[in-house]
Amino acid sequence: MKIVCIGSGNVATHMAIAFKEVGAEIIQVWSPNAQHAEILAALTQAEAIHNWADLDRTADCYVIAVRDDAIAAVAPHLADLKGIVVHTSGATAIDVLSATGKGYGVLYPLQTFSKTTAIDLKKVPLCIEADSAETLDKLSAIAHLISPMVSVVSTEQRSILHVAAVFACNFSNHLYHLSNTILAQYQLDFALLKPLIMETAQKIQTSDPRAVQTGPAVRGDEKTMAKHLSLLTGSPELQVIYEILSKSIKNTYN
Ligand SMILES: NC(=O)c1ccc[n+]([C@@H]2O[C@H](COP(=O)([O-])OP(=O)(O)OC[C@H]3O[C@@H](n4cnc5c(N)ncnc54)[C@H](OP(=O)(O)O)[C@@H]3O)[C@@H](O)[C@H]2O)c1
Repeated sequence: MKIVCIGSGNVATHMAIAFKEVGAEIIQVWSPNAQHAEILAALTQAEAIHNWADLDRTADCYVIAVRDDAIAAVAPHLADLKGIVVHTSGATAIDVLSATGKGYGVLYPLQTFSKTTAIDLKKVPLCIEADSAETLDKLSAIAHLISPMVSVVSTEQRSILHVAAVFACNFSNHLYHLSNTILAQYQLDFALLKPLIMETAQKIQTSDPRAVQTGPAVRGDEKTMAKHLSLLTGSPELQVIYEILSKSIKNTYN
């Protein structure tokens, strides 16, 4: 199995390593920043390329893992290849790759990836979509090399999964950051909150999140909420976020 990585960021790095670990060959890495391409190429014993003219046209799969807005510009450079061409975006329609000709699809890993954090791809759901039954068979076989959790998901379903993932992951992580900034103002250690964060994530493995909501908003403790808002007087943005989320919690249980 020969793979070419288009992009060298968080997802490209984790996918390339995962494919490499199951015996696939990463033959080339292309990335706009030549140094970034070189780093991932060195990690996977691949060739870094800087010109599209040097693209190896014999790979089985071309994995585009560039930022969403750049996929359309990259696609025409991957036209009429022997292998299939896939992007990894949750929010981007499959049609963005129509310029590549036949044999394109989506390989969306439903997980949060940072280059600096190890991820076991075998535990990551992969959402796949393809332009034809033939491409879907090929893509399914390729996806199963790195994870047993492969689901066929349409562009519309993927968009819904992606917006839900933004709430569950990106917004939660931002709220962790905001908690950290509140604590830092009072020289309190964020480590004190980590058991609470772990327990919250652990609890919803076996319970409906709606059933295990705690805190002043679900209890209707108005005085506590007013006190919290006064503690946040110096941070109007945090007050707005506090009020919006508290209102959403109250509305959920009314
Ligand atoms: N990170 C996640 O948790 C996650 C999860 C699932 C899916 N995804 C999807 O995976 C894709 C990559 O995300 P990522 O988090 O890996 O991004 P990233 O780490 O920010 O990397 C972005 C990549 O895009 C390249 N790039 C930037 N501008 C470009 C341009 N104008 N033309 C071509 N390439 C360009 C960058 O190249 P240089 O570094 O060389 O500039 C880099 O290789 C996105 O479609 C994203 O939606 C991400």
